[in-house]
Amino acid sequence: MEISFKNKVALVTGAASGLGLETATQFAESGASVVLSDFNQQALDEAVKLLSDKGYNVIGIKCDVSNEAEVKSMLEKVVQKFGKLDVAYNNAGMHVAVAETADALSEDFDRAIAVNLKGIWLCMKYELQVMRQQGSGSIVNCSSQSGIVGTANLGAYTAAKHGVVGLTKATALEYAPKGIRVNCICPGTTNTPMVANAVADHPEHMDAIISSIPRGRMGKSEELASTVLWLSSEAAGFMIGQAVVPDGGYTI
Ligand code: NAI
Repeated sequence: MEISFKNKVALVTGAASGLGLETATQFAESGASVVLSDFNQQALDEAVKLLSDKGYNVIGIKCDVSNEAEVKSMLEKVVQKFGKLDVAYNNAGMHVAVAETADALSEDFDRAIAVNLKGIWLCMKYELQVMRQQGSGSIVNCSSQSGIVGTANLGAYTAAKHGVVGLTKATALEYAPKGIRVNCICPGTTNTPMVANAVADHPEHMDAIISSIPRGRMGKSEELASTVLWLSSEAAGFMIGQAVVPDGGYTI
């Protein structure tokens, strides 16, 4: 089945960089009108310009996914502009400081949960209000390989990403009978600015990361984005509440 998003409206959060930007690009290339959203205004403006200059139908909406008022307003703007929302990829996420549990800071724990878990819940809440009225839609949430197995020294991130898998399953059960599919992806280590920043002070960690991946390399943003597009599309119409794990074999 050809994957096309012609006449569809897609929303991508954390769309100014890495996986989000690549996925927004692939949605646009596949014919969708795309709403790029990010809390970094400058990077968002650059991403929107990049895609507009290529002739794609895109808009940018600044939004911090951990802020309920901003998330609510983002969905209001999507409906004002396009009148509907077919597909959402809830991608925005962040690492907090790497630290063993006895040394980790409480505020870092709170922030990791607020962005990586509650942010997904807030986005789904307002996306589903639109999709429920339509009786259709597809949501893909971004978890991680850290949503399947533990990652030492990233306890809060690991907890949040495991939470995304559970939240996805619960929400998928509620909305499958209403014509709305909810799934998540659990990417393995992928070559994005997030990973580059994480190893910037310890480049030797990159060798250890790569040697832990059976595929022998990091994932490419294009490979992750194409998984999101497939999962968002009718080609994956029988996928409900699943955690799809493009991780080069890391968690098997
Ligand atoms: P990235 O750092 O390149 O991009 C993340 C984007 O999210 C940035 O544009 C940033 O401004 C935005 N963002 C961060 N916090 C936000 C907030 N509160 N509200 C709105 N936007 C916010 O990171 P990358 O690698 O593209 O990560 C994307 C997603 O993939 C994240 O959820 C991450 O946890 C997940 N992931 C990434 C992996 C990797 O190896 N790169 C592996 C597993 C999961």
